[in-house]
Amino acid sequence: MTAPPEINIGLMGLGVVGTGVAATLLRRESPISDVTGRPVNLKKVLVRDVSLPRDIDLPPGMLTANAEDILADPDIHILVEVMGGSDPAEGYIKQGLAAGKYVVTANKEVMAKSGPELMALARENDVQILFEASVGGGIPIVGCLMNELAANEIRSIRGIINGTTNYILTRMANERTSFEQALSEAQGHGYAEADPTNDIEGIDASYKLTILASLAYRRAFRHQDVYCEGISKLEPQDFRYAQELGYAIKSLAIANLDDGAVQLRVYPALLPAEHMLAKVDGVYNAVEVHGSLCGQVLFHGMGAGREPTTSAVVGDVIEAARKMGALPPGMQDRGIKPANGPSVRPIGDLLSRYYIRLDVADNPGVLAQIAQVLGDGQISIATVIQKDIQPETGSAEIVITTHPSREASVQQALQALAGLSQVRRVSNTLRIEE
Ligand code: NAP
Ligand code: HSE
Repeated sequence: MTAPPEINIGLMGLGVVGTGVAATLLRRESPISDVTGRPVNLKKVLVRDVSLPRDIDLPPGMLTANAEDILADPDIHILVEVMGGSDPAEGYIKQGLAAGKYVVTANKEVMAKSGPELMALARENDVQILFEASVGGGIPIVGCLMNELAANEIRSIRGIINGTTNYILTRMANERTSFEQALSEAQGHGYAEADPTNDIEGIDASYKLTILASLAYRRAFRHQDVYCEGISKLEPQDFRYAQELGYAIKSLAIANLDDGAVQLRVYPALLPAEHMLAKVDGVYNAVEVHGSLCGQVLFHGMGAGREPTTSAVVGDVIEAARKMGALPPGMQDRGIKPANGPSVRPIGDLLSRYYIRLDVADNPGVLAQIAQVLGDGQISIATVIQKDIQPETGSAEIVITTHPSREASVQQALQALAGLSQVRRVSNTLRIEE
C-alpha cells in the first residue's frame, strides 16, 4: 500500500472501548498526527442501533448501522474493530483485510480462534492486523512478546489476565463481598464481557493465553488446548483457609515449556501471600514472563476498562499509520505456524501441590480412610485442618494440602474420596502454585 496523505479510520463498535477510542481520535489537541507525521481522521462509526443515546457527541453523519459504509469505502485505510464476539466481527475483519485495510482489534475471541489465519490474510494483502488490546488491557505484552522478547526461548508465562475475575476475587477476599455483588460492580465499571460467563468460567483468560502462547512459541495453539476452570465454585471459607495457610487465591493463566512440550492452563490457584502475583489486586493484570535471556520480567497494569484499553487500541492505530506503505510483504505473520514448535502436554501430567476441602461425617476413623485413599494414590499429605464442626448435622470440614502429586492421580483419588460413605462432599480442589 502506498502511504495516503491523510489516514482515515472506520471504527466498528461504540461501547466501553469504542467510546474511548472515538474520543481520543476526535480530540483536537491529540498528538496522534504529530506522532504519525500525517493527519489521522475518524471517518465512520458502526453500531448496532443508531437511535441509542451515546456518551459522546459525534459529528453529524458519522454514525452508521451499515458495515458496508466502512468496508466498501476505499478512503478508509484502518478498520478498528471493537464490537466483540466472533460473528460478524471476524467476517468484517476478513473483508477489511481483503480490501487492503489495516485492522486493529481488541477481540481476543477472534484472535484466539483465527489469529494465524487472519495474519496470513493480512500478509497476502500487504497489510497488518494489530491486536495489542486483546490481552492485558493497557499492558503492552503482545508487542513485547512479538518484538522486544523475541530473542528468548520462553520458559514460562504466568499471569492474571482477566480483570473481572481478579476484581471479584479481590473484593471477596478483602471485603467479604458476595460473588454477585462483586460481579455487578465489575460490570458497572465496564470490565466484564457482554456475557460475563466468559470471564467467570476462565474462557476469556483461555483465549488470551492462547494468543500469548502462540506468540511465545510460534505455534498456532487452539483455545481448546488450554485446560480451563472458572472461579464459580469458590466459597467464602476457601478464602479463610487460604489466608490461614498463608496463601492468596488468584485465577492464573499459565503456559510452561518442559521437555519440548507446553502445558496451558487457567484455574484459580493458591499462591504464597508474599508472591508478587498474589499482590495484584482489583482490575489490575500482571504477566510474569520467564525467558532464556531476559530472566524473569513482570508486566503490571490495568487489564480492562475504557482508558487502558483505548491506550492499547490507539497505540496500534499509530503503529499502523506509521507502517502504512513502509512495510515489506511477509513481515506480518510473526512466524506462527499451525504445527510449529512444541506440542501440548495434557493436564493429567501436571505435577502440583493441591488444596482439597471435604465435608465429612464427624465420626471416628474418617481421617484414616481419607489418608488411606490418598496414600493408595501415592499422594503425600502436607497439612490437615479440621474445622467448622456442625453438631446439628454431625458434619466436619477437613482441608488437606498435599506435597507435589500428579494431577491424574489426584483426580482418581478425588473420585474415590467422593465414593466414601463418610465423605458428604468434595467441596473444592485448588492447585497450589509456588
Ligand atoms: P460493548 O461495550 O458491549 O460495545 C460493543 C459495541 O459494538 C456497541 O457499540 C455495539 O453497538 C457494537 N456492536 C456489537 N455488535 C454489533 C453488530 N453486530 N453490528 C454493529 N455493531 C455492533 O463492548 P466493549 O466492552 O467495548 O468491548 C469491545 C471489544 O473489546 C470486545 O472484543 C472486548 O473483548 C474487547 N475488550 C474490552 C475491554 C473492556 O474493558 N471492556 C478490554 C479489553 C478488550 P450498540 O452500541 O448499538 O449496541
Ligand atoms: N472482560 C475482560 C476482563 C476485558 O475482565 O479482563 C479485558 O479483556
